[in-house]
Amino acid sequence: MELPFAESYKIKMVEAIRKSTREERDKWIKEAGYNVFNLTSEQVCIDLLTDSGTGAMSDRQWSAMMLGDESYAGASSYHNLKDAIRSITGFEWFLPTHQGRAAENVLFSTLVKKGDIVPGNSHFDTTKGHIEFRKASAVDCTVDAAFDTSADYPFKGNIDLLKLEDVLNEYPPERIPFVIVTVTCNTSGGQPVSMDNLRAVREMANRYGVPVIFDAARFAENAYFIKKREKLYADRTIREIVLEMFTYADAMTMSSKKDAIVNMGGFIAFRKEKWFREASLYNIMFEGFITYGGMSGRDMNALARGLEEGTEFDYLDTRVRQVEYLGNKLKGYGIPVQNPIGGHAVFVDAGRFLPHLPREEFVAQALVVELYREAGVRATEIGTLLADRDPVSRENRYPAVEYVRLAIPRRVYTNNHMDVVAAAMKNIHERRNDIRRGYNIINEAPIMRHFTVELKPARK
Ligand code: F0G
Repeated sequence: MELPFAESYKIKMVEAIRKSTREERDKWIKEAGYNVFNLTSEQVCIDLLTDSGTGAMSDRQWSAMMLGDESYAGASSYHNLKDAIRSITGFEWFLPTHQGRAAENVLFSTLVKKGDIVPGNSHFDTTKGHIEFRKASAVDCTVDAAFDTSADYPFKGNIDLLKLEDVLNEYPPERIPFVIVTVTCNTSGGQPVSMDNLRAVREMANRYGVPVIFDAARFAENAYFIKKREKLYADRTIREIVLEMFTYADAMTMSSKKDAIVNMGGFIAFRKEKWFREASLYNIMFEGFITYGGMSGRDMNALARGLEEGTEFDYLDTRVRQVEYLGNKLKGYGIPVQNPIGGHAVFVDAGRFLPHLPREEFVAQALVVELYREAGVRATEIGTLLADRDPVSRENRYPAVEYVRLAIPRRVYTNNHMDVVAAAMKNIHERRNDIRRGYNIINEAPIMRHFTVELKPARK
């Protein structure tokens, strides 16, 4: 008999999960204004809100923390991190920051100015936010296949080279500070970008004299997919693939809370000293001195170790296969999801799940609330609520797909938890026609409304 697949780690410390009843959950979600961000974590049984900063650190990461050097300048922890970043990414220069959006803030303060155009594959919200905050515009050049959840295309994070070339032809290079490539592309469903595409984007950008930056939060999961899906790379190690990926970028921003398996942290890495020097000024103003940038020494030590662990094949195999396990279960139950399954999350297509609900009633949010009620599972809406209003017309913006994201924290849950999530979704799917109404907004903030919005059930 062939031996089955098993996780590449064992569990040394556990955290209790408090179970709840449906009555309790009905009461709590109402009190939370039907917004899962307002729930306390004790009210949640399985938390799939995000894979960001929610991973379990290893024994080696915890022991590295004890060796943290808390010197203000030149700490050994800083040098440990610098060495790890250099050997994994190949980048010579780096600045620590407290998380990914802080890296964006520092780097974009250096590079982005009013009226600029920043093409890329679907920009993450904070990335877009930091571009728009500077009165510049993000242009989405993702391949069309990404927006058709039933299309089985192996690299739905890819940039459509024709769309990119149109942008590069339309604007002079002075107005395009860089092309940004998000690996994997969170917004399109944790979908990877192929090495072939990274190389082609680099070549095109070179021809137009424009730099390339990677938003690298999930670079290791992207490398795993390249190994699995791009023939030439089947026999390469993850570390070799990662090194090649980064040769196509001039700099990277990193939210270490994802693929580097720490609870807090980020960094920017650069090939050119010039950018590093310019960005150092903003790092000192916004984050901290250039050898700690908002991170404590112990956190930099854990991050250095996390970068090593996060790029091990066996860990990534366990990680991505768990996400796929949940995705395949859902597909087996006839639930529409983004295909193929992404690296960090399963994206449920709520528009196809609840086609009878009007989009103005926040279809994906209605499914998020149902899932919480059913089993205490907390997911995120990546749909009309998150898409916010148009800054000028103040009308709701309707994205191509209404998603419910089931993001799986790293090394935290077992496949039994995944079974519970899948069963809960199946139960809801069976009674989907009884879900007759969505939600209306009672209160909303002018931007990033999804974090604090208060809702009430629509109609009677
Ligand atoms: N880039 C990507 C692709 C991200 O997914 C995130 C965060 C960031 C940048 C910002 O990093 O949170 O460390 O400031 N994504 C989280 C999520 C919040 O739930 O997907 P941060």
